Amino acid sequence: MQSLEIANVWDKIKTIEKSCESALKGDALIIPDQPARDVLILDSKQHPAKLGLSKREGQARMLHDLASIELQAMELGLRTLIEFPEAPQSFREELLTVTVSEGEHLRLCLEGINDLGFSWGAWPVHTALWNTVKAEDSLLDRILIVHRYLEGSGLDAGDSLIRRLDGISDAGSVKKIVQQINFEEIGHVDFGSRWYREICRSSGIDPQDDFPSRMTTLRQQLPKRLERINRELRLKAGFTEQEVHWCESWRAGYF
Ligand SMILES: [Fe+2]
Ligand SMILES: [Fe+2]
Repeated sequence: MQSLEIANVWDKIKTIEKSCESALKGDALIIPDQPARDVLILDSKQHPAKLGLSKREGQARMLHDLASIELQAMELGLRTLIEFPEAPQSFREELLTVTVSEGEHLRLCLEGINDLGFSWGAWPVHTALWNTVKAEDSLLDRILIVHRYLEGSGLDAGDSLIRRLDGISDAGSVKKIVQQINFEEIGHVDFGSRWYREICRSSGIDPQDDFPSRMTTLRQQLPKRLERINRELRLKAGFTEQEVHWCESWRAGYF
Protein backbone atom coordinates (compact mmCIF):
# COMPACT_ATOMS: atom_id res chain seq x y z
CA MET A 1 0.00 0.00 0.00
CA GLN A 2 1.42 3.41 -0.89
CA SER A 3 1.42 6.36 1.49
CA LEU A 4 -1.59 8.26 0.06
CA GLU A 5 -3.82 5.36 1.09
CA ILE A 6 -2.26 4.89 4.53
CA ALA A 7 -4.25 6.65 7.26
CA ASN A 8 -1.80 6.57 10.19
CA VAL A 9 0.15 9.79 10.11
CA TRP A 10 3.42 8.33 11.46
CA ASP A 11 3.30 5.42 9.01
CA LYS A 12 2.66 7.92 6.24
CA ILE A 13 5.82 9.87 7.07
CA LYS A 14 7.78 6.62 6.97
CA THR A 15 6.41 5.47 3.62
CA ILE A 16 6.34 8.78 1.74
CA GLU A 17 9.99 8.51 0.73
CA LYS A 18 9.48 4.98 -0.57
CA SER A 19 6.41 6.02 -2.58
CA CYS A 20 8.32 8.99 -4.02
CA GLU A 21 11.25 6.76 -5.02
CA SER A 22 8.91 4.32 -6.65
CA ALA A 23 7.12 7.17 -8.49
CA LEU A 24 10.55 8.45 -9.60
CA LYS A 25 11.22 5.07 -11.19
CA GLY A 26 7.98 5.53 -13.11
CA ASP A 27 5.82 3.06 -11.17
CA ALA A 28 2.12 3.80 -11.79
CA LEU A 29 0.82 4.59 -8.31
CA ILE A 30 -2.84 5.23 -7.57
CA ILE A 31 -4.06 8.73 -6.69
CA PRO A 32 -7.19 8.52 -4.53
CA ASP A 33 -9.87 11.29 -4.65
CA GLN A 34 -8.98 12.10 -1.05
CA PRO A 35 -5.82 11.05 0.78
CA ALA A 36 -6.50 8.79 3.78
CA ARG A 37 -6.60 10.30 7.29
CA ASP A 38 -6.65 8.84 10.81
CA VAL A 39 -8.44 11.98 12.10
CA LEU A 40 -11.71 13.74 11.33
CA ILE A 41 -11.76 15.66 8.03
CA LEU A 42 -14.03 18.68 8.15
CA ASP A 43 -14.42 21.77 5.97
CA SER A 44 -12.36 24.49 7.68
CA LYS A 45 -15.50 26.66 8.04
CA GLN A 46 -16.82 24.03 10.45
CA HIS A 47 -13.67 23.84 12.59
CA PRO A 48 -13.95 25.02 16.21
CA ALA A 49 -12.81 28.62 16.82
CA LYS A 50 -9.07 29.11 17.33
CA LEU A 51 -7.71 30.01 20.76
CA GLY A 52 -5.12 32.72 21.42
CA LEU A 53 -1.45 31.75 21.18
CA SER A 54 -0.77 32.72 24.78
CA LYS A 55 -2.48 29.46 25.89
CA ARG A 56 -0.77 26.09 25.45
CA GLU A 57 -3.96 24.78 23.87
CA GLY A 58 -3.92 27.63 21.34
CA GLN A 59 -0.28 26.87 20.48
CA ALA A 60 -1.03 23.15 20.09
CA ARG A 61 -4.00 23.95 17.86
CA MET A 62 -1.82 26.19 15.69
CA LEU A 63 0.78 23.39 15.35
CA HIS A 64 -2.06 20.97 14.55
CA ASP A 65 -3.26 23.23 11.71
CA LEU A 66 0.34 23.51 10.51
CA ALA A 67 0.79 19.71 10.70
CA SER A 68 -2.25 19.26 8.47
CA ILE A 69 -0.72 21.68 5.94
CA GLU A 70 2.65 19.89 6.03
CA LEU A 71 0.92 16.55 5.52
CA GLN A 72 -0.87 17.88 2.44
CA ALA A 73 2.36 19.46 1.15
CA MET A 74 4.00 16.04 1.40
CA GLU A 75 1.11 14.36 -0.40
CA LEU A 76 1.04 17.03 -3.12
CA GLY A 77 4.76 16.46 -3.75
CA LEU A 78 4.14 12.76 -4.24
CA ARG A 79 1.10 13.48 -6.41
CA THR A 80 3.18 15.67 -8.76
CA LEU A 81 5.78 12.92 -9.05
CA ILE A 82 3.06 10.44 -10.00
CA GLU A 83 1.20 12.75 -12.38
CA PHE A 84 4.19 14.22 -14.23
CA PRO A 85 6.49 11.33 -15.18
CA GLU A 86 7.66 13.37 -18.20
CA ALA A 87 8.96 16.27 -16.06
CA PRO A 88 12.76 16.79 -16.13
CA GLN A 89 14.54 14.18 -14.03
CA SER A 90 16.43 16.79 -12.00
CA PHE A 91 13.13 18.54 -11.19
CA ARG A 92 11.70 15.22 -10.00
CA GLU A 93 14.76 14.43 -7.88
CA GLU A 94 14.65 17.88 -6.29
CA LEU A 95 10.92 17.50 -5.63
CA LEU A 96 11.65 14.27 -3.74
CA THR A 97 14.03 16.21 -1.47
CA VAL A 98 11.38 18.92 -0.92
CA THR A 99 8.79 16.25 -0.11
CA VAL A 100 11.05 14.53 2.41
CA SER A 101 11.60 17.95 4.02
CA GLU A 102 7.80 18.36 4.34
CA GLY A 103 7.80 15.04 6.18
CA GLU A 104 10.39 16.44 8.60
CA HIS A 105 8.22 19.53 9.14
CA LEU A 106 5.26 17.30 9.86
CA ARG A 107 7.27 15.30 12.40
CA LEU A 108 8.40 18.53 14.12
CA CYS A 109 4.77 19.70 14.40
CA LEU A 110 3.51 16.36 15.73
CA GLU A 111 6.25 16.20 18.36
CA GLY A 112 5.54 19.82 19.30
CA ILE A 113 1.83 19.02 19.78
CA ASN A 114 2.75 16.05 22.02
CA ASP A 115 5.22 18.16 24.04
CA LEU A 116 2.39 20.61 24.77
CA GLY A 117 0.30 17.73 26.17
CA PHE A 118 -2.04 17.28 23.20
CA SER A 119 -2.18 14.78 20.37
CA TRP A 120 -2.82 14.52 16.65
CA GLY A 121 -6.58 14.25 16.18
CA ALA A 122 -7.45 16.60 19.07
CA TRP A 123 -8.95 18.85 16.36
CA PRO A 124 -10.41 18.17 12.91
CA VAL A 125 -8.31 18.74 9.78
CA HIS A 126 -9.13 19.89 6.24
CA THR A 127 -7.88 18.80 2.82
CA ALA A 128 -8.33 22.18 1.11
CA LEU A 129 -4.77 22.23 -0.28
CA TRP A 130 -5.12 18.77 -1.79
CA ASN A 131 -8.39 19.91 -3.39
CA THR A 132 -6.77 23.00 -4.93
CA VAL A 133 -4.94 20.97 -7.56
CA LYS A 134 -6.57 19.16 -10.47
CA ALA A 135 -5.59 16.23 -12.67
CA GLU A 136 -5.88 18.59 -15.68
CA ASP A 137 -3.18 20.98 -14.37
CA SER A 138 -0.14 21.41 -16.60
CA LEU A 139 3.27 21.17 -14.93
CA LEU A 140 3.59 24.99 -15.03
CA ASP A 141 0.13 25.31 -13.43
CA ARG A 142 1.08 22.85 -10.71
CA ILE A 143 4.36 24.58 -9.91
CA LEU A 144 2.58 27.95 -9.68
CA ILE A 145 -0.27 26.59 -7.55
CA VAL A 146 1.68 24.48 -5.06
CA HIS A 147 5.13 25.97 -4.77
CA ARG A 148 4.62 29.62 -5.64
CA TYR A 149 1.04 30.35 -4.57
CA LEU A 150 0.29 27.98 -1.64
CA GLU A 151 3.83 27.73 -0.27
CA GLY A 152 4.49 31.39 -1.12
CA SER A 153 1.43 32.43 0.91
CA GLY A 154 2.67 30.11 3.66
CA LEU A 155 5.87 32.19 3.85
CA ASP A 156 3.81 35.38 4.39
CA ALA A 157 1.65 33.69 7.05
CA GLY A 158 4.61 32.01 8.78
CA ASP A 159 6.45 35.28 9.18
CA SER A 160 3.50 37.04 10.80
CA LEU A 161 3.01 34.01 13.08
CA ILE A 162 6.64 34.29 14.24
CA ARG A 163 6.02 37.98 15.05
CA ARG A 164 2.92 37.08 17.08
CA LEU A 165 4.88 34.39 18.97
CA ASP A 166 7.66 36.92 19.69
CA GLY A 167 5.47 38.65 22.22
CA ILE A 168 4.60 35.48 24.18
CA SER A 169 6.95 34.53 27.00
CA ASP A 170 6.46 30.73 27.16
CA ALA A 171 6.17 30.06 23.42
CA GLY A 172 9.92 29.54 22.85
CA SER A 173 9.85 25.93 21.65
CA VAL A 174 6.84 26.49 19.40
CA LYS A 175 8.50 29.56 17.91
CA LYS A 176 11.64 27.54 17.17
CA ILE A 177 9.59 25.02 15.21
CA VAL A 178 7.78 27.70 13.17
CA GLN A 179 11.07 29.54 12.52
CA GLN A 180 12.81 26.41 11.26
CA ILE A 181 9.88 25.53 9.01
CA ASN A 182 9.54 29.04 7.60
CA PHE A 183 13.29 29.26 6.92
CA GLU A 184 13.24 25.94 5.02
CA GLU A 185 10.09 26.93 3.15
CA ILE A 186 12.06 29.74 1.45
CA GLY A 187 13.97 26.94 -0.30
CA HIS A 188 10.75 25.18 -1.32
CA VAL A 189 9.33 28.35 -2.87
CA ASP A 190 12.67 29.06 -4.54
CA PHE A 191 12.54 25.54 -6.01
CA GLY A 192 9.19 26.54 -7.55
CA SER A 193 10.50 29.89 -8.81
CA ARG A 194 13.59 28.38 -10.46
CA TRP A 195 11.75 25.52 -12.13
CA TYR A 196 8.87 27.75 -13.23
CA ARG A 197 11.38 29.87 -15.15
CA GLU A 198 13.37 26.89 -16.42
CA ILE A 199 10.28 25.12 -17.79
CA CYS A 200 9.05 28.38 -19.34
CA ARG A 201 12.47 28.79 -20.99
CA SER A 202 12.61 25.24 -22.36
CA SER A 203 9.03 25.61 -23.69
CA GLY A 204 9.75 28.94 -25.41
CA ILE A 205 7.42 30.83 -23.03
CA ASP A 206 8.23 34.28 -21.65
CA PRO A 207 7.71 34.04 -17.86
CA GLN A 208 7.11 37.80 -17.60
CA ASP A 209 4.00 37.46 -19.77
CA ASP A 210 3.07 34.01 -18.55
CA PHE A 211 2.99 34.71 -14.80
CA PRO A 212 0.16 37.29 -14.78
CA SER A 213 -1.87 35.51 -17.46
CA ARG A 214 -1.54 32.03 -15.93
CA MET A 215 -2.28 33.34 -12.43
CA THR A 216 -5.37 35.13 -13.77
CA THR A 217 -6.62 31.89 -15.33
CA LEU A 218 -5.88 29.88 -12.18
CA ARG A 219 -7.49 32.40 -9.83
CA GLN A 220 -10.88 30.65 -9.60
CA GLN A 221 -9.05 27.46 -8.58
CA LEU A 222 -7.06 29.07 -5.76
CA PRO A 223 -8.19 29.55 -2.15
CA LYS A 224 -8.24 33.22 -1.16
CA ARG A 225 -5.37 34.39 1.07
CA LEU A 226 -5.61 37.57 3.12
CA GLU A 227 -2.12 37.79 4.59
CA ARG A 228 0.01 40.76 3.48
CA ILE A 229 2.61 39.72 0.87
CA ASN A 230 6.01 39.54 2.56
CA ARG A 231 8.09 41.29 -0.12
CA GLU A 232 11.46 40.48 1.48
CA LEU A 233 10.79 36.75 1.80
CA ARG A 234 9.19 36.50 -1.63
CA LEU A 235 12.27 38.09 -3.24
CA LYS A 236 14.53 35.72 -1.29
CA ALA A 237 12.41 32.86 -2.63
CA GLY A 238 13.03 33.81 -6.26
CA PHE A 239 10.04 36.06 -7.03
CA THR A 240 10.84 38.97 -9.35
CA GLU A 241 9.84 42.54 -8.46
CA GLN A 242 7.11 42.39 -11.12
CA GLU A 243 5.72 39.12 -9.72
CA VAL A 244 5.67 40.50 -6.17
CA HIS A 245 3.93 43.62 -7.44
CA TRP A 246 1.31 41.52 -9.24
CA CYS A 247 0.66 39.46 -6.07
CA GLU A 248 0.39 42.63 -3.96
CA SER A 249 -2.08 44.21 -6.40
CA TRP A 250 -4.24 41.09 -6.43
CA ARG A 251 -4.24 40.84 -2.66
CA ALA A 252 -5.10 44.53 -2.36
CA GLY A 253 -8.15 43.83 -4.53
CA TYR A 254 -7.08 45.99 -7.51
CA PHE A 255 -8.24 43.29 -9.92
FE1 LIG B 1 6.77 22.44 5.00
FE1 LIG C 1 7.08 23.43 1.75
